[in-house]
Amino acid sequence: MELKKYLDDNRIYVEEALDRLLLSGSTEPSVIHEAMRYSVFAGGKRLRPILCLASCEAVGGDKKTVLPVACAFEFIHTYSLIHDDLPAMDNDDLRRGKPTNHVVFGEANAILAGDALLTFAFEVLCGYGLEYSDKQKYLQVCKEIAQASGTLGMVGGQVVDILSENKQIDEETLKFIHRHKTGALIKAPVRAGAILGGGTPEQVEELTCYAENLGLAFQITDDLLDVIGDPEKLGKPTGSDDKNKKATFPSIFGLEKSREMAREAVNKALEALNNFGEEALPLRLLAEYLLIRDC
Ligand code: IPE
Ligand code: IPE
Ligand code: MG
Ligand code: MG
Ligand code: MG
Repeated sequence: MELKKYLDDNRIYVEEALDRLLLSGSTEPSVIHEAMRYSVFAGGKRLRPILCLASCEAVGGDKKTVLPVACAFEFIHTYSLIHDDLPAMDNDDLRRGKPTNHVVFGEANAILAGDALLTFAFEVLCGYGLEYSDKQKYLQVCKEIAQASGTLGMVGGQVVDILSENKQIDEETLKFIHRHKTGALIKAPVRAGAILGGGTPEQVEELTCYAENLGLAFQITDDLLDVIGDPEKLGKPTGSDDKNKKATFPSIFGLEKSREMAREAVNKALEALNNFGEEALPLRLLAEYLLIRDC
C-alpha cells in the first residue's frame, strides 16, 4: 500500500463529506458561513478524521459508519486553529497556505467562526446519534470528544501553553502541554474509530497507547518544523514559537534530542500495534510518516 494514495483518497472522501455537511456560504448571515468554509477548505491534511477512519478499519469496522464523527473532529480542529492564530494567542497571519481567518474576516468574525465550528461539530454528532443504534456507546464517545476538546483536553493544553510563554518549564509541564493541546484531539478520533468500529476492550486499549505516542510525536515534529521547516510547504509561518517565546521540544532539548524523542514515540506507537494484522497497515504508515513529514 502506498501511503500517499491512501491519504489522498481518504482526504477526498472526508472533504466531500465536510462539504455536504456545512451550510452554503450564501446562507444568511453569509459572512459567518463564508468564514467557516474559508478555514475548513483552506487545505489541511485531515489527519484527525483519517485517523478515525483508519482506526475503525483496524478493528474490522466499516469506515462509512464513522464518517460524520470523523468530520466532527475536523470542525473542532479547524476551530482550534482559527483561535490559535488570533492576535491574543499566537498572532499568526498565515494558515494552510492562506491568510488567517481574522486577517480576512476580522477578529470578531474569526472568534465567532471558531465558536460556530465547535458548536456545529456537536450538532453533527447529535444528528448522527439520532440514527445510531447503540445510543449508550455513542453517547459515551460524544462525552469523550467533548472532554478531549475542553479544559481537560485541548483548551487546557492551550491555557498552559500560553501561561508558559517566556518561562523555563520542566519536561513534565512540556509534556502536559503537548498531551493536552494536541494529543487529546489525536487520541479521541483514534478511540472513537476503535470503539464505534466494534473493537474489543483490548484493541481499544492498544489503539489508545498507539494514539498517545502518535500525538506526542506529532507535536514534537510540529515544534521541529517551526524551526527547520519550509513555510511554503507548511502553509504557515516558521519561527512563530521563537517569536512568542514558547516552550517547545527544540527550545528545551535541542534539535537532535527532539528528533530522537519523536523517533522513540513513533517506535512505541508501532509496538502498540503488534497484535494487529494487515488491517492496521495505514496506522503504521501514518506513524512512520510523522518522522519525515514536511507539512
Ligand atoms: C496543526 O495541526 C496544529 C497542531 C495541533 C500542531 P495540523 O498540522 O494537523 O494542521 P492541518 O490540519 O494539516 O492544517
Ligand atoms: C496549537 O499548537 C495546537 C492547537 C490546539 C491548535 P501550535 O500553536 O504549535 O500549532 P501551530 O504550529 O500554530 O499549527
Ligand atoms: Mg499555539
Ligand atoms: Mg500556533
Ligand atoms: Mg506549532
